Amino acid sequence: MRRLYMLTAATAIAATTGCSVSNDFTPVAGNTGEEIFSNACIDCHEPQDGYIFDISPEKANVETLSTIISKGEMLMPAFPNIQGAELTAISEFVLAKNKPEETEVNEAAEASE
Ligand code: HEC
Repeated sequence: MRRLYMLTAATAIAATTGCSVSNDFTPVAGNTGEEIFSNACIDCHEPQDGYIFDISPEKANVETLSTIISKGEMLMPAFPNIQGAELTAISEFVLAKNKPEETEVNEAAEASE
């Protein structure tokens, strides 16, 4: 019983000090990725030059992005209430707004000159 109390206290401290940040935003069923983005993400992720994200290639897929969005990552808050079709929609939106890898294309072009 005492152990359970300590565990609850530790969880409460973690929540108030912001160690584990969780955002309780809940999308309306059927929301598009763009709608979710402009409601829940735009404050921290500002669009620039036609793209919003600059994600490393190994993370740039719907499955990994879904995990990052629902579980959080370092400073990125977790969105546990974005699930199912809406989670797929926002992940696809992120992917569509990911910066194209121009540098690699340019380097390849230069190398062939
Ligand atoms: C409170 C600010 C905040 C909000 C709100 C927020 N993010 Fe983030 N997000 C961040 C920060 C800061 C980072 C980058 C640093 C890090 O990875 O910890 C990040 C990182 C990410 C990454 C990973 C990028 C990478 O290169 O690994 C994705 C994807 C992402 N956010 C998507 C979203 C989506 C989708 C939403 C809305 C549902 C959202 N974020 C809402 C702050 C936020």
